[in-house]
Amino acid sequence: MSNFSSAAVSVAVSPESPSTPSALATRLAEAYRTVRDETERRAAPLSAEDQVVQSMPDASPAKWHRAHTTWFFEQFLLGPHQPGYRVFHPDYAYLFNSYYVSAGPRHTRAARGLLTRPGVEEVAAYRRHVDAAMLALFAESDEAKLRQLEPLVEVGLNHEQQHQELMLTDILHAFAQNPIPPAYDPTWRLPAAEHSGDALVDLPEGIHAIGHAGDSFHFDNEKPAHRALVGPVTLARHLVTNAEWLAFMADGGYRTPTLWLMDGFACAEREGWEAPGHWRQVDGEWRIMTLGGLQRIDPDAPVCHVSYYEADAFARWSGKHLPTEMEWEVAARAGQLADAFGIVWQWTRSAYAPYPGYKAIEGALGEYNGKFMVNQLVLRGSSCVTPDGHSRLTYRNFFYPHHRWQFTGLRLADYDV
Ligand SMILES: [Fe+2]
Repeated sequence: MSNFSSAAVSVAVSPESPSTPSALATRLAEAYRTVRDETERRAAPLSAEDQVVQSMPDASPAKWHRAHTTWFFEQFLLGPHQPGYRVFHPDYAYLFNSYYVSAGPRHTRAARGLLTRPGVEEVAAYRRHVDAAMLALFAESDEAKLRQLEPLVEVGLNHEQQHQELMLTDILHAFAQNPIPPAYDPTWRLPAAEHSGDALVDLPEGIHAIGHAGDSFHFDNEKPAHRALVGPVTLARHLVTNAEWLAFMADGGYRTPTLWLMDGFACAEREGWEAPGHWRQVDGEWRIMTLGGLQRIDPDAPVCHVSYYEADAFARWSGKHLPTEMEWEVAARAGQLADAFGIVWQWTRSAYAPYPGYKAIEGALGEYNGKFMVNQLVLRGSSCVTPDGHSRLTYRNFFYPHHRWQFTGLRLADYDV
């Protein structure tokens, strides 16, 4: 089960190809089943004990991910749109609301790992209850109502796909704390990168369209599309590799304060960082904890599990920079970046801020993205555990600069042109 791909989620119906109500209902139901099944497929190798653990406040238990994504449909689809819907359990909204203040009070995030009850069987029953109600909602709704539901269903499915990725990054972090390193899937390997090299991508000065245009699915933070001045800049075609990172380490990169942002060096000292996340020494050799268990460091593989602070220090050590998200998007649109998608998210030096004229969507779902637009950095691309159909050129992922439990790496930029 080394391939985490799932069928692409596409429930949109173009205006040129009108569907009958039953065709749209079928399409919604199929997209719904595909995504919900993928969550269960990813959870299947995990024991009940695996599914309870919360290894740090930023990570959530697998059982919680399975329940929270279910609550999302109950809260935003079934409650408002299915007359007579009976909630599975009156307390689950409190347990499984994540951060939606408008949706009511919620359990403390850092205490999710203390929820030994409900157990995995009850969570599975919760999922079945909501699945049956959602499929009934699709089957019973007329076309006008289906078209009203469609954007909400798309958000719910894309939300669940985000949690599919988190479920694996979170269990990897938990397994990485275990002195006897468990393998989620013994056959798992990081996807191979395009052969590395020094190839460069020149972006001459120009004004470019940035952000999502059109009506296909996107998160609100990808809009409005707007124009930006980009270049001149040169981007590395390839991702930074483990071999390059080992050279940074050997040159004292983690111990040289002049390479680091002050907050970054303080964080590295406080956390005792001397290598990327999930690396550990075995008999004097560095190994990396992966979903396939403890593995040797492949020098040609892209470096993974580095924070923004580390990526920034590495760039300075290299005499280069991290690109902006606009530079990344322009080069990726032109098809000039190797491994833009599917291996590691790539840090940019762009603050996660609203695009000019950004407006959060109405209602409680307006809390989805907009309220996080401070103190975080944008990552572009996607990772090896991002579900298929969930990547876009305009996708803006975001994490705090000290975070490194996601599949995060980097590519470099140079302005000496
Ligand atoms: Fe969520």
